[in-house]
Amino acid sequence: MKILVYGAGVLGSQLAHVLVRGGNDVTVMARGKRAEELERDGVVIRHVFQFRTTVDPVRVTRELKAEDVYDLIFVVMKYNDFPSVLPILANNRSTNIVIVGNNADARSMQTYLEDNSPVDKRVAFGFHVSGGKRHKDRMMSIGGGKGLMVIGALDGKILPLLDQAFAKAKYKLDVMKDIDAWLKSHLIPILMLNAVSFNEERELKKLEGSREQLLHMIGALDEGIAVLEAMGIDMIPRAQAKLIRKHKRLLYLLLKIYSMLPVHKLVAGSYGEIEAMDRAFTDWKSVTKVPTPHWDALRRDFTIL
Ligand SMILES: NC(=O)c1ccc[n+]([C@@H]2O[C@H](COP(=O)([O-])OP(=O)(O)OC[C@H]3O[C@@H](n4cnc5c(N)ncnc54)[C@H](OP(=O)(O)O)[C@@H]3O)[C@@H](O)[C@H]2O)c1
Repeated sequence: MKILVYGAGVLGSQLAHVLVRGGNDVTVMARGKRAEELERDGVVIRHVFQFRTTVDPVRVTRELKAEDVYDLIFVVMKYNDFPSVLPILANNRSTNIVIVGNNADARSMQTYLEDNSPVDKRVAFGFHVSGGKRHKDRMMSIGGGKGLMVIGALDGKILPLLDQAFAKAKYKLDVMKDIDAWLKSHLIPILMLNAVSFNEERELKKLEGSREQLLHMIGALDEGIAVLEAMGIDMIPRAQAKLIRKHKRLLYLLLKIYSMLPVHKLVAGSYGEIEAMDRAFTDWKSVTKVPTPHWDALRRDFTIL
């Protein structure tokens, strides 16, 4: 299958690797130095926990022209980067598009693509469950197993081509009935963890892990669920909401352990994306008028958001 991976960063590179190994004809859309690296070396990934490095040659393009038609386009970038590529995607004559990554407003992105394209657009939204960061000219992956994408379409019908694209890839698609609810739910812990993980210089810092901080973190998660509920959204996965609301001691313990581990240093953070997601969450809070004293305390005492 002819596939474009639009965005050749950490997770786009991982996805390109999976799709190439799955027997697809993969082109990667990249720019600047990254495009040069990919042309010279292919997609080079260091799989940190598997102690191996993979190299996959790919076709590289620096531009998506209107007439460049692909069976499937995966757009893999930060939430705040999507607006800059939506006009290019709308203008392009390919039909099937999967927008992969954190996303606070899937509906408006889909509407934009549908309203501004000369062809019918079929859009799905996904989240590639993995992590990693850039290291010089290669990507570090901390993904485990064969790989997984949480995925769905807003109208409930997933693109039929997706199964075909991953048929030989040993990669799992976890299809959600309500991907928008999943993506919005996902935003709550991400924002909370980022709120306590960066200093004023926007550098990663060690979590304090004090009792006061951990209790505010748990309280903020609970308030996040309340905001979603006020918008008519039940947090997905349900087990996460149950952990936050009914098993606070266990959650406390898990966050305490997390605060002591260096694992979050292996995950690339992006302040621009966090700011954009925080703006969306701030809108939800003001529309729903749900009181959020724990978020306010995190903001005041521990965070720069
Ligand atoms: N990395 C992780 O550990 C991790 C873990 C969980 C979830 N996620 C989420 O997954 C999503 C993708 O993250 P990521 O880490 O893969 O991001 P990333 O490394 O920043 O990759 C995004 C890529 O998109 C490219 N791009 C952005 N705007 C573009 C444009 N207008 N035209 C062409 N290319 C453009 C960037 O190019 P340049 O390199 O030229 O800027 C970059 O290569 C995000 O929502 C992120 O939060 C990431």
